[in-house]
Amino acid sequence: MYLRRIALQNFRNHEQTTLDFKSRLIFFIGNNGEGKTNLLESISLLSYLKSFRETDENQLLKWDSPFTFVRAEFEAGGEDFVFEYGIEKGQFKRKKIKINGEVIKKISDSVGYFRSVILSPPDIQIIESGNVERRRFLDSFISSTNKNYLHHLIEYNRLLKQRNHALKKETATDKEIEIWNEPLIERDSEIRKIRSQTISRLNVFFEKNLNLLSQGKDPFHITYKPNVLSEENHRERLVGNLKKDRAIGYTSCGGHRDDIPIGFDDKDLSSFGSQGQKRSAVIALKTASFQMILEDTGEAPVLLIDDIIRELDVKRREYFLNLILECGQAFFTTTDLEGIKEYVGNLEIDKEIFVIQNGKVSQGFEK
Ligand SMILES: Nc1ncnc2c1ncn2[C@@H]1O[C@H](COP(=O)(O)OP(=O)(O)OP(=O)(O)O)[C@@H](O)[C@H]1O
Ligand SMILES: [Mg+2]
Repeated sequence: MYLRRIALQNFRNHEQTTLDFKSRLIFFIGNNGEGKTNLLESISLLSYLKSFRETDENQLLKWDSPFTFVRAEFEAGGEDFVFEYGIEKGQFKRKKIKINGEVIKKISDSVGYFRSVILSPPDIQIIESGNVERRRFLDSFISSTNKNYLHHLIEYNRLLKQRNHALKKETATDKEIEIWNEPLIERDSEIRKIRSQTISRLNVFFEKNLNLLSQGKDPFHITYKPNVLSEENHRERLVGNLKKDRAIGYTSCGGHRDDIPIGFDDKDLSSFGSQGQKRSAVIALKTASFQMILEDTGEAPVLLIDDIIRELDVKRREYFLNLILECGQAFFTTTDLEGIKEYVGNLEIDKEIFVIQNGKVSQGFEK
C-alpha cells in the first residue's frame, strides 16, 4: 500500500495543499494547531470514509467554504488508483466518491481500496470508556475492508432508527412497530457472525502482541458478548420487550448493545488497568488490526501515527519500530522532530519531511 499524492481543497485549515510522497517514512512537523492531524485525517478518510475524530462532517469543510475535496493517488496490490472524495455543504446526498473516475453509487462499495490503520492519542478511549467506543472501533475497522459488513451496518442502523421512531409515536399500532423486527433480526444476525469471527481472529494477534509488550505479564484478551444470542432469541426479546420499548421509546436489544470485554475472567481493563497496561492494550489492538489486514490482503496497510511516539516508553518504542519496519509506508505527525529522529532516525528507510504552518505545507528536507 503506497500513497503517492494527496491534494486537498478547503479541507479544515488547508485551503489548497498538494503533496507528493516518494518515501516510506513521512514526517509532518509543525507547532500545535498548524494542521498536521488534519492531513492524517484526510488520508484516513480514504479508508474509513469518515473522520477518525469527528462525527459532524461539516467540520471537515474549511470554515465558510461550500465544499471540500480530497483527491488521492495510491498503489494497492500493484495497481494504481485515483480516489476522489467530495463533500458539499447541506443536508442530503452531499458526499460524492469517485474511484478511477467512476462515481460510486453505494457508499459501501468504496471501502477496501485504500487500507490504513491510525494510531492517535484518543485511541485510549477504546480501552477506557468501554463498549460504545469498542463497537465504534470494531465497526470502523471491519467496515474499512469489508463492504458487506458496512452495508449490513448501514441497513441495521437505518432500520433501528425507523423502529425507534415508531416506538416514540403514541399513535403507532403494535403492527407498525413489529414490521421492523424481521429485517432487523436478519441484519443483526449477519453483523453478529462477522463481529464474532473478527474478534476471535483479532484476539489471537492481540494476545500475542500484548504478551510481547508486557513480557508475559499482561495475559488479557478480547471477547465478544453479543446482546442477542441467536435469531430465535432476538425475536423472542423484541416481542417480549415491546411494552418496555414503547415506554422508553427505544429498542432495548440487538447488536447496538453488544459488549466487547477486554481483560481477563470477568474483569475489564477499563476498571482495573493501570495507565501503562491500557496503553499497551491499545497498541496491541491497533497492531492486531494492522496484522489482520496484512494477513487478509497480503499487503501491509499504511500506518498513520498521530503524535504518539513521545508518549511511549523504551520498551514500547522498540516494539513500535518493528512494526514500522514491517509496514509499507508510515506517516508521523510531531512537534518535535529531534525527539522522533532519536529512534526512527537510524532506520534504514527513506524518509521525507514536510513542514506545516497555518495550513500551508512546505517540503523540508530528505534524508
Ligand atoms: N473546519 C475548519 N476550517 C478551518 N480551520 C479549521 C477547521 N477545523 C479545524 N481548523 C483549524 O485547524 C487547526 C488544527 O489543525 P490540526 O488538528 O491538524 O493541528 P495539529 O497541527 O495537529 O496540532 P497539534 O500539534 O496541537 O495536534 C486549528 O488551527 C483549527 O483552528
Ligand atoms: Mg495534532
